[in-house]
Amino acid sequence: MATEKQALPDGFRYLPDHLDRAAQEVLVGEIRAVVAAAPLYVPTMPRTGKPMSVRMTNCGRLGWVTDKARGYRYQETHPATGKPWPPIPERLLALWQELAGFEAPPEACLVNFYDDTAKMGMHQDSDEAEFAAPVLSISLGDTCLFRIGGTERSDKAQSLKLASGDIVLLAGKSRLAYHGVTRTYPGTSTLLKNGGRINLTLRRVTPI
Ligand code: SIN
Ligand code: FE2
Repeated sequence: MATEKQALPDGFRYLPDHLDRAAQEVLVGEIRAVVAAAPLYVPTMPRTGKPMSVRMTNCGRLGWVTDKARGYRYQETHPATGKPWPPIPERLLALWQELAGFEAPPEACLVNFYDDTAKMGMHQDSDEAEFAAPVLSISLGDTCLFRIGGTERSDKAQSLKLASGDIVLLAGKSRLAYHGVTRTYPGTSTLLKNGGRINLTLRRVTPI
């Protein structure tokens, strides 16, 4: 639900309730299998080494990682296990085909897990070498307050509540829009038995 009466940024797509409960449940099962093979870990900020409040893992050929020594980047292996990331589940590839409007498949699916206190500061997704492809983002579990602004950090941002099953796309002119997660709302969903929120972000990393 949009909480302010302001047009959403150009190119930004908000698809509330895109996944029904049954589809969400199947997806959560698949993400549990991903997490079993590639455990959630605590990423740290470049230079400062400050831990992020969100825990992360990935599936796909490439995974987005960050740590104190080497900063933000994509790599082919899990930073703790050293193993290749598990593959992106078929239904996520199908969702990308349905919604992304981009000829090549995604190469990375970042899995973010938010507990009741986790949040994510305003940032741009700019570690990819292909900005013609959108970023496709799926929300599962508890509702969050998502902020979306413009392509300059100083641009005015607006808030959107993202609930389980909602999908947003940072596409076109909004591909490099600043965005973040201010907070989650504990107890707003029964999808995850221990609560919390999962966000899945599909991205194309390399040019075709
Ligand atoms: C992100 O920008 O990586 C996460 C966005 C979200 O959790 O909805
Ligand atoms: Fe992001």
